[in-house]
Amino acid sequence: MTQTHPKVELHLHLEGAAPPAFIRGLAAEKKMDISGIFDERGNYSYTDFWQFLKVYEAATETLKIPEDYHRLTLAVLEESAASGVIYSETFLSPDFCGGRDVGAWREYLHAIREAADLAEKRDGIILRGIVTAIRHFGPEKSKETALCAAETAGDWLVGFGLAGDEKMGKPKDFAWSFDAAREAGLRLTAHAGEWGGPESVRDAICDLGIERVGHGVRAIEDLALVDEIAEKGIVLEVCPGSNIALGLYPGWRTHPIHRLRERGVKVTVSTDDPPFFHTTMAREYQMLAEAFDWDDGVFEEIAKTSLAAAFCDEATREAVAKRLSE
Ligand code: ADE
Ligand code: ZN
Repeated sequence: MTQTHPKVELHLHLEGAAPPAFIRGLAAEKKMDISGIFDERGNYSYTDFWQFLKVYEAATETLKIPEDYHRLTLAVLEESAASGVIYSETFLSPDFCGGRDVGAWREYLHAIREAADLAEKRDGIILRGIVTAIRHFGPEKSKETALCAAETAGDWLVGFGLAGDEKMGKPKDFAWSFDAAREAGLRLTAHAGEWGGPESVRDAICDLGIERVGHGVRAIEDLALVDEIAEKGIVLEVCPGSNIALGLYPGWRTHPIHRLRERGVKVTVSTDDPPFFHTTMAREYQMLAEAFDWDDGVFEEIAKTSLAAAFCDEATREAVAKRLSE
């Protein structure tokens, strides 16, 4: 179940998946000095969540043109496919791709889609995109982001979300953006219950009408909320290795994914920003198997839950389902 078994990943930030060597290469080409974001071994270096976000943004500064995103997409999908991922959804931000200008955003999106098509032919992995507003950039910028998303919504761009610093503002500040995205036919998810507590998850569900929650793990601090999430069939995009690397939980055995699943919540497993957290999908599966004694059956159930919650069209879902059952 670790390396070769087919996996479905729902929560992956494209820039956050950039291998450090790839970013160093781009920086060298552009004569940019970003040595401060790496440690002596060449890995991304940060001490807390806010600094992690700043290092993420500094690395993203090297991605200046659509061609850079084309190369990034190919590099990221190669890594995902090597971990056995056959279907993936990635977060994309018009903030980083063309400064929220719709025309520029279209060019970035085109470059990313072209790379995704190549990777599908090369590695058999299918990618779909979710436009993501960045919470600490504020509600006004998120409206521009939502308009970019609405303009390009369709068969490939399937969702809208919210990432960034959960401590800034409230979900309802972003309700206009989520309404616009919903009207454009996009499916909805938002980061909540990572750096905010259960009330943050409750607010995101009530005020944004999301059907999936990014992380959501801190719902465990309020069992009535856990039961509500289970009853409503809301899916959690759980990224255990990310939570542990960022210090939310001291180790795998204390991570709440097991308890959430036991209480009936639909949990899925993703990597979030894999090189930042020294992880891969294969490693997530391996560590979960060891921590909770999960067998192949549990991982098969998780892959099916993930595919059922994917934002793709039904023909794509069926094609991936066939491969999951091979
Ligand atoms: N952007 C990239 N990774 C993130 C995370 N784990 N939480 C919030 N925003 C993010
Ligand atoms: Zn995330």
